[in-house]
Amino acid sequence: MKSEFIVTMAVLALAGAARAAEAGSITIQADKPGVATSPALYGIFFEEISHAGDGGLYAELLQNRSFEETVPVEGTTLVDGRCVAPDLPHYLGVKNSKRRPNGQPWSQPWKFESPWPAWSLDGAAELSLETQTPLFASNLHYLRLKLAQPGAKLLNEGYWGVAVKQGETYDCSFYARIAGGAGGGVKVGVIGGDGRELGVAVVAGVASKDWTKYTASFPGLGNDAKAKFFLQPLAAGALDLDMVSLFPRHTFKDRPNGLRADIAQKLADLKPAFMRFPGGCVVEGATFANRYRWKETLGDVAVRPGHWSLWGYRNTDGLGYHEFLQLCEDLGCAGMYVCSVGLACEFRNGDFISGAQLEAELQDALDAAEYALGGPDTKWGALRAKAGHPAPFPLQFVELGNENHGPLYNQYYNQFAAAFRKAWPQLKLIFNGGTGDTGPEKGVQNVDLFDEHYYKDADFFFANQHRYDAVSRQRGYDVYVGEFACNKGVGRGNLRAALAEAAFMLGMERNSDLVKLCSYAPLFFNVSKLNWPVNMIGYDSAVSFGRSTYYAQCLLAGNRPDVNLAHTIVWPAAMPAQYFAALPGLDRQAQEIVLRLVNGVEQPVQVKVRIVGARVQPQGRGRIITLSGKLTDENDEKNPECIVPLCSAWQAPGQEFTLDLKPASLTIVRIPIK
Ligand code: AHR
Repeated sequence: MKSEFIVTMAVLALAGAARAAEAGSITIQADKPGVATSPALYGIFFEEISHAGDGGLYAELLQNRSFEETVPVEGTTLVDGRCVAPDLPHYLGVKNSKRRPNGQPWSQPWKFESPWPAWSLDGAAELSLETQTPLFASNLHYLRLKLAQPGAKLLNEGYWGVAVKQGETYDCSFYARIAGGAGGGVKVGVIGGDGRELGVAVVAGVASKDWTKYTASFPGLGNDAKAKFFLQPLAAGALDLDMVSLFPRHTFKDRPNGLRADIAQKLADLKPAFMRFPGGCVVEGATFANRYRWKETLGDVAVRPGHWSLWGYRNTDGLGYHEFLQLCEDLGCAGMYVCSVGLACEFRNGDFISGAQLEAELQDALDAAEYALGGPDTKWGALRAKAGHPAPFPLQFVELGNENHGPLYNQYYNQFAAAFRKAWPQLKLIFNGGTGDTGPEKGVQNVDLFDEHYYKDADFFFANQHRYDAVSRQRGYDVYVGEFACNKGVGRGNLRAALAEAAFMLGMERNSDLVKLCSYAPLFFNVSKLNWPVNMIGYDSAVSFGRSTYYAQCLLAGNRPDVNLAHTIVWPAAMPAQYFAALPGLDRQAQEIVLRLVNGVEQPVQVKVRIVGARVQPQGRGRIITLSGKLTDENDEKNPECIVPLCSAWQAPGQEFTLDLKPASLTIVRIPIK
């Protein structure tokens, strides 16, 4: 984060170009601590949507590496170019819904530009997709490449380009089998847009008639974000290929099968308190059979079958349950696993299970907790130890279902929650309420947190900064705002969105005795394939960037005080008060008042600050950090740093002083006190 800040050490007060006629005022009572802020408040929400994992955080450079991309959606049948779900009752009892029109089961168009998406040929050769004698039963498809004479190259376009960098080392691996001819050497590498080979290695002796794994490494010989991978047999014949993979050697924390370092670092800079995984609707699946199945995401990546994400593409599951838990540990945050409770997504097929099948689903969820937390002497803990991690992972939360609701959900929740409470009393259990915001009904038990979701416009978030002030504290459960984003009327995510969310987040922080956790959603998007209009962190094959939303959350999470402080605020009468927010708190260790202010209009505003109950330290090392610009400004891949925080050294002149808030800004003022 720090490297992204432009630090100017000049001592300055915030300079507004024009001065507002009337000032607001805030009196902070530094000796009157209020609610303790929730240390776990700011977390992250990960779901495989818009290529968040494959083609994003997961560092694999090749798309469709195991040739499974065209495998139909789990639990559906191919009919006239569509994957059609079974005609089963919907768990909410609905006959017609947006995605089940005329009472028909959910279906999905199933067309591809070729049987081997992302792969193509340069030169004369024949390709066919085969299944007869697969590498692994869980991974049926492989590619046969037939050459009458050597010369042709098999190409992979990666995820809208294979990014190659000068000086980086690339590790390639593939499984091959000779299906005709004597075999021989195989050349692998990357070709730039100008046709130059920007990395190359030759694997000698690819001659076995049995599936064999081959590996090669090569240095990057240039920079090109849109390069292609190539594989070129040096002998004529037929070669079967599967699990063709290319990774940069350098990944986040240099883990093998790891994560793209620049993107993972952006997560680290958010200082998340927890990470939610794996969603989102993917938890539930378009059909029950399509739900997320954590056990199939473990072990050797070549054996993992992957599955179709209901956001429109197949997942490798190379970033699986183990990798999620490992990332939590690497980020120093708690894990939040969201499990299926046997109900498919209400907006898709909505089919459900019961009886013995439901019992098995519950056991599966309990096994996930055992994998994370159980000792190496337990069945699933032993598997974790075998995977190289004998110590438990930091799983702290389990959410039972995603956006499920209604009588059947209540019943299933009770069944799952009672079993979890008994088996893993240390885990906090989360109930969710569909896309509405009504809490658990009477009779629902063992709810620690209720998950609310808000995808709304800026006015909603500004107006709802006081939403939680009046909510009863006697309900018996806390609040987790599990998905929120200002995503309407804000372009692809502009500064207005970030400021509206900041006002809302300050409202959550002020009510930290009730709102314990929150996570913006969705987290990621590949600029070439968007499934959702507004997201937090974007990237292409080479460059990643945060929207202003990202920086607002970095600032609030990075400047979260220990307690709120009592205060009174008066905003200038001539200004629309609903577009302003302020919250002071105390950072006890730093001995600093941390004042956060949101100015949601494009005019400068003066605020007179008065501090009582503590002595401002004139020699203290104060700071002002500002995120500002035009309300419509957006960071994107062409202008990734249009809006970034600016940090300045700053000295509070005394107990009373005036701040000039920049137009359209989030301002953090850190004031050393005694
Ligand atoms: O964040 C995108 C989707 O929005 C999630 O999958 C779902 O839970 C919500 O409706």
